[in-house]
Amino acid sequence: MRNQTAKLDLIILGASGNLARMKIFPALFALFSQGLLPPEARFYGLARRSLSQEEFREQIMRHLTCRYTPEHSCAVHIERFLAACRYCRGDYRSPDGFAELGSLLRPDRNRLFYLALPPEIFPAAAANAAGLAQNGTDGAWTRVVLEKPFGRDRASSDRLNRELLRQFSEEQLYRIDHYLGKEMVQNLIVLRFANQIFKPLWNSRYIRCVKIDWQENIGIEGRGDYFDHYGIIRDVIQNHLLQLVTLIAMREPATLTADAVRDRKLEVLRAMETVALGDLVLGQYAAAELNGRKIPGYTAEPGVRPDSLTPTFARLRLRIGNDDWREVPFIIRAGKALAEKKSEIRVVFRNPESNIFCTRDRCPPANELIIRIQPDEGIQFNIVSKTPGLKMRLQTKELDLSYDTAFADTVIPEAYESLLLDVINGEKALFIRKDELEAAWDIFTPVLHEIETAQIKPEPYAFGSSGPEAAREGICNNE
Ligand code: NDP
Ligand code: BG6
Repeated sequence: MRNQTAKLDLIILGASGNLARMKIFPALFALFSQGLLPPEARFYGLARRSLSQEEFREQIMRHLTCRYTPEHSCAVHIERFLAACRYCRGDYRSPDGFAELGSLLRPDRNRLFYLALPPEIFPAAAANAAGLAQNGTDGAWTRVVLEKPFGRDRASSDRLNRELLRQFSEEQLYRIDHYLGKEMVQNLIVLRFANQIFKPLWNSRYIRCVKIDWQENIGIEGRGDYFDHYGIIRDVIQNHLLQLVTLIAMREPATLTADAVRDRKLEVLRAMETVALGDLVLGQYAAAELNGRKIPGYTAEPGVRPDSLTPTFARLRLRIGNDDWREVPFIIRAGKALAEKKSEIRVVFRNPESNIFCTRDRCPPANELIIRIQPDEGIQFNIVSKTPGLKMRLQTKELDLSYDTAFADTVIPEAYESLLLDVINGEKALFIRKDELEAAWDIFTPVLHEIETAQIKPEPYAFGSSGPEAAREGICNNE
């Protein structure tokens, strides 16, 4: 493992928050317990609230899991990990807030700052973090990890970048999109380019449409202040799901280096048409009764305006105006508070124009390749097969590579484990480059402004349902 001997101080700003507790510290512990972090690495948490060291460690401990190590040795790892964690109380906006932290950081260590904060605080926090940056003597680096959302539209994203780039270079910034760290998402590039069979088929001649379906069966879970300001398009579509589209549509990069991969993704983003209002269905979840329990609707959630028009569901069509994909709609469907939790990509192939199995009015169903990102990671290929028997009858069956069985003895890493290790190793392929971000905002900014200016009312759908009526019919056929 590269850089394992490098020395590291890792600083989490917003250490008392949900992301830090639920994702970042558990991921760090997973790496720590496998010996993948530099020896003597230390983890500093900064936040405004008053917490004793014991309370801070107790908060961290609650979410650590022993997935990689047997129970008996795990307790020892936990004890060592917690001993390396230290809390500092401080205000992100004031240099004084960073004074205690500054006095604790070790002079010759690499410094990794993780901004697990609401985005409006990024510039002030980054400016204060810059005051603690290594100056490059001893070869020690400083890197900064930023969480999405990176702005609300192209202009605010540009502003944010300008402010951050006053303090740090583009090379030092790691814009995280945790979907890129998911195992199955990392597998997309392997599936497409390590399997020769797909290469000639991967274009509009053989593919009719690509559907990306993202569903959660929970509401906004206490994140009303944040969500109401952003909505589902900014929360997951402009970033996580658009990244999936780029990985499905990009041409093969010349190498696997960060810039070669990101250049290919950028080509897709730049070829994409801006989203049209007519291609959009918006929804907002409403109260419902589930298993005898009354569940409040979106506008009754804490932090949400009672007259909010923020969409919690969207279905839209993306078009890529290049020779490979001009005829192929990419249909994205994303919603909170739906019937199930799932995230999958479905590549729908074309029906043959003529086929010995076609009758006068019917041809065999089209093949589909389904990439299940979560839960139940896997790759499924729907093929037409003869039903055993004396007659020639056809039916669709599944070739299913389910990770549960195919990799039964393998622990699937959490996205944040993979991404944090990449930051430490200086690997940038899975992080969003500034020009990618700009192109991503260009696709959505006009329609986001139109929705807000025209005060488009989202269609209500019941909590736990399959979404708004208008988004139920299939739109993949005959486009
Ligand atoms: P939280 O609301 O839990 O806040 C994180 C921390 O920021 C808190 O510990 C709080 O610390 C501090 N904070 C909150 N509000 C303010 C404020 N107005 N002024 C100053 N400090 C504030 O957020 P999350 O941890 O959920 O998210 C952090 C970042 O990560 C956000 O950008 C979010 O969009 C992003 N993100 C979160 C995900 C998740 O799963 N939670 C997933 C993907 C991205 P204190 O008050 O103690 O200073
Ligand atoms: C975050 C969004 O980026 O991703 C959340 O802000 C969403 O709204 C989450 O719930 C989903 O992540 P995962 O890894 O649980 O699919």
